[in-house]
Amino acid sequence: MNSSKIEHIPVLAGTLIEQINLPRDGVMVDATIGHGGHSFLFGQTLGPEAVLIGLDLDKKAIRGAQFKLKDLSCKVILLYANFSEISEQVREQGFESVDFILADLGVSSVQLADAKIGLSFQTDMPLDMRIDKRIKTTAADIVNKADQKSLADLIYKFGQDRGSRRIARFIVRERQSRPITTTGQLASIVCRALGQPGRRRKSRIHPATRTFQALRIAVNNELENLEKLLSSASGMLAKKGRIAVISYHSLEDRLVKNNFKANEKDGIYKIITKKPIVPSREEIALNQRARSAKLRIAERQ
Ligand SMILES: C[S@@+](CC[C@H](N)C(=O)[O-])C[C@H]1O[C@@H](n2cnc3c(N)ncnc32)[C@H](O)[C@@H]1O
Repeated sequence: MNSSKIEHIPVLAGTLIEQINLPRDGVMVDATIGHGGHSFLFGQTLGPEAVLIGLDLDKKAIRGAQFKLKDLSCKVILLYANFSEISEQVREQGFESVDFILADLGVSSVQLADAKIGLSFQTDMPLDMRIDKRIKTTAADIVNKADQKSLADLIYKFGQDRGSRRIARFIVRERQSRPITTTGQLASIVCRALGQPGRRRKSRIHPATRTFQALRIAVNNELENLEKLLSSASGMLAKKGRIAVISYHSLEDRLVKNNFKANEKDGIYKIITKKPIVPSREEIALNQRARSAKLRIAERQ
């Protein structure tokens, strides 16, 4: 699969534009700029006094965003940085408060197709999964080195797969005869452990989905990064400033929901989305990646 030919369609873009009323001279931080899909839409509503700060861990994505946003009239600052350090990064650029923080979590369609990142079980790729190549441990390191119990616990904790013990057993058995080095190899081990796609009566997802999710979360430290982003955000937002987070699985969504609730209880946030906003059937038909998206928005009081 050639990732340069893949286009990432921003999820719930129309809803976000409707819900977020940015001042024309506002400061916006896109914590997950990707190829700049959402930021491009917001950027078009901003005047020359406004500032758009974008963060990403993927240098290729930043280059994509640079190109996409080059004709906007607002000032654009793109940073190769982890959103776990959002407040330090934004302060370093000279901003004490911002009007909008957007986080569209997970990975883009471009990254899913990128063999150098190695995330996809649909295509055979080196089993890597590091979005940020500064990270030392790859998914292959984990599946080849972790003991069986730790593997099972990881797949259960981050993938919520009830077949975790069986999957771990099959992984360990396979690696005794040869190392597990590709996504295709791992996917077929999981299929052998759980049954081929479509055979599991109750599940419409590919059997390897949860194992791959678990490894990606572990390799990229995703939940810890999200917790740090959420705990910094309230201190960065101007009064009436909003934070919007799009999550793609229940572990992320739970963190967002609990953070917003706790901040509302303390009088810091007002929750704008009592229930998360999900994409319409039409949007999902056009963009399969949107199917598990949940958008939550809160406003700084
Ligand atoms: C779903 S994509 C964002 C797509 C973007 N909203 C668009 O419309 O083009 C998520 C992006 O977040 C980045 N990302 C994931 N974890 C990150 C982190 N901890 N810090 C910064 N960026 C991160 C990924 O590299 C990816 O480019």
